[in-house]
Amino acid sequence: MLDTATEGKSIPEHVCIIMDGNGRWAKKRLMPRTFGHKKGVETTRSVIEVFAKAGVKHLTLFAFSSENWNRPADEVSTLMELFLHSLEKNTPELNVKGIRIRFIGERDAFSEKLQRQIASTEALTRDNETMTLNIAANYGGQWDIVNAAKQLASRVEKDLLKAEEINQKLLEAELSLADTPDPDLFIRTGGEHRISNFLIWQLAYTEFVFTDVLWPDFSEQEMQSALDEYSSRQRRYGKTGDQIEADRAC
Ligand code: IPE
Ligand code: IPE
Ligand code: MG
Repeated sequence: MLDTATEGKSIPEHVCIIMDGNGRWAKKRLMPRTFGHKKGVETTRSVIEVFAKAGVKHLTLFAFSSENWNRPADEVSTLMELFLHSLEKNTPELNVKGIRIRFIGERDAFSEKLQRQIASTEALTRDNETMTLNIAANYGGQWDIVNAAKQLASRVEKDLLKAEEINQKLLEAELSLADTPDPDLFIRTGGEHRISNFLIWQLAYTEFVFTDVLWPDFSEQEMQSALDEYSSRQRRYGKTGDQIEADRAC
């Protein structure tokens, strides 16, 4: 269905998603929040498949923010178990589908077992080329920028770089997704209109799509409509609309 539906439309090269609304989805059903997280994993599997099929080359999913540690301890531990379990279960299948899986964020805070699984998932899928899936786990955009600043500062300290030589390009080269084009499309489900410390630097010129649909209900049709919405946008990067039209004509 998607192959024909996307014909003639511009496909974002990089999509990033804040997968929000699991807790409220469960609460509406008088179920524990963790029930929503389990259901949310199914949507995650579907989104990977649908976007890979649509031709998206990079997909970055916000799985756990650096602030999510502040949640009740039992929710955090269920999230960690779910994370480990779904990696164990889904890595082989995603590998067969040609998905390269990488993690961004501070992984040292995770259990040894989870860190080992993360490393083996990355190693197994390293050479896959259909799509790269970046999983942001214990990730924060502010941490990412501070970390990049630290790398540059240490080069200055070692006399490998002069402070006045620091520019946008050098800082970008130290960010988590340095080798990946900035996201073209940002999607947030769950009705909130905020970035919640996701890829704050990289989102400078990204197109935003917000939907009230809760993550477990985010269907293939919703995914398609986010792609359609993206395709209808004119990206101007500071230029005028007429300039963009003229550039496109030549
Ligand atoms: C997103 O859903 C999943 C994570 C943050 C891990 P939430 O758990 O934030 O769901 P709501 O926003 O409370 O409904
Ligand atoms: C953002 O969702 C983080 C993830 C989806 C992993 P939150 O539910 O934690 O965001 P806030 O707290 O509502 O901003
Ligand atoms: Mg939330």
